[in-house]
Amino acid sequence: MIAALVVIVLVARSTSRTHNPSVVQSTDTLREFGRYLFYDATLSVDSSTSCGTCHQQFAAFAHIDHAVSHGVLGRIGTRNVPALQNLQQQTSFMWDGAFEHLAMQSINPLTGHAEMGSTLPDVLARVARNPRYQQLASQLYDDTQITIPRILEALAAFTGSIVSRSSRYDAMRDGKLVFNENEQRGLDEFRTHCASCHAEPYFMSNDFASNGLPPDTAMVDVGRYRVTQREEDRYRFRVPSLRNIAITFPYMHDGRFRRLRDVLDHYGSPSKHTPYADSRVTSIAGLSDVERKDIIAFLLTLTDTLLPREPRYRDPYLP
Ligand code: HEC
Ligand code: HEC
Repeated sequence: MIAALVVIVLVARSTSRTHNPSVVQSTDTLREFGRYLFYDATLSVDSSTSCGTCHQQFAAFAHIDHAVSHGVLGRIGTRNVPALQNLQQQTSFMWDGAFEHLAMQSINPLTGHAEMGSTLPDVLARVARNPRYQQLASQLYDDTQITIPRILEALAAFTGSIVSRSSRYDAMRDGKLVFNENEQRGLDEFRTHCASCHAEPYFMSNDFASNGLPPDTAMVDVGRYRVTQREEDRYRFRVPSLRNIAITFPYMHDGRFRRLRDVLDHYGSPSKHTPYADSRVTSIAGLSDVERKDIIAFLLTLTDTLLPREPRYRDPYLP
């Protein structure tokens, strides 16, 4: 506990302010340090799993085709891997907002039983004896030391630098292209039914809400309630970003939907009228087949053309 507090204080002191003060404004070298760490499987207990195993660049750093996460030694997690993008816009992290500090969040996957299964002393030992990290540390720090807060800060510098700003939607907003009819109708529908939660231009909000999904019977994930213990937060989840939604399937905190069509069928049907559903969802009277298709046509414009291929985000251990 005391160790964790020391880490908080040290990390908080070493970061500077952006929209979310915990997302560091960083130098290229610090981001490079973070990128090597992010893709380094030797940080896991059996050297099998890196952050990048679950957060895949080609899937906007989600884990494609996995309903819930898979970690070391075949251990299965309980939640779907979220995309990592525009994190500086988020005031909290995880489906239930359990972390408000991006650098602190990394402790969870590094030491989580169903993620990388390591311990912080082991992580530190492995990083500290690696010549690449020694060299990066000598460029970054006068005292050339590698510490846990510095490792966490570097990881946050890398993940915080992942930006989605190069989709057809962005080009349309910049006046560089015009949407076709379906896309435009879809955008209008989206603004009517969805944007009160999935707010432009990031298509997320820092709120927690229930979009009316019935709780899954296997995990019975109580969502935000786990963090606040307030009854009204039961089954509420962070409103996720819809950027890159076409490449981050399956969907929802438990990955229950494989296709965007399934998502639209949910929002368009009476089954969303669960007792705790948000009124912004229950007020959607219904969506016709054409409306569902148009909204999907619009959602496909949110796929980034650069992020999945951007060299600065790439796995540096690949040939
Ligand atoms: C075994 C798969 C797995 C590994 C390995 C993993 N993650 Fe994750 N990550 C997840 C899952 C699942 C969540 C959502 C967890 C939750 O909501 O409780 C998540 C959430 C996150 C978030 C919050 C995103 C958001 O929008 O709220 C960040 C940031 C993140 N991970 C970074 C990392 C970093 C950095 C590492 C390596 C140190 C890492 N992850 C390793 C599965 C993984
Ligand atoms: C009341 C706020 C609210 C409204 C209105 C809303 N959503 Fe959502 N949406 C959420 C929340 C919260 C989640 C995450 C729920 C979960 O995982 O349990 C979500 C999840 C999603 C996902 C899955 C994202 C992912 O990464 O897995 C998609 C796609 C989506 N919504 C599309 C829409 C569309 C399209 C509309 C309009 C028809 C809409 N939403 C209206 C709150 C809302």
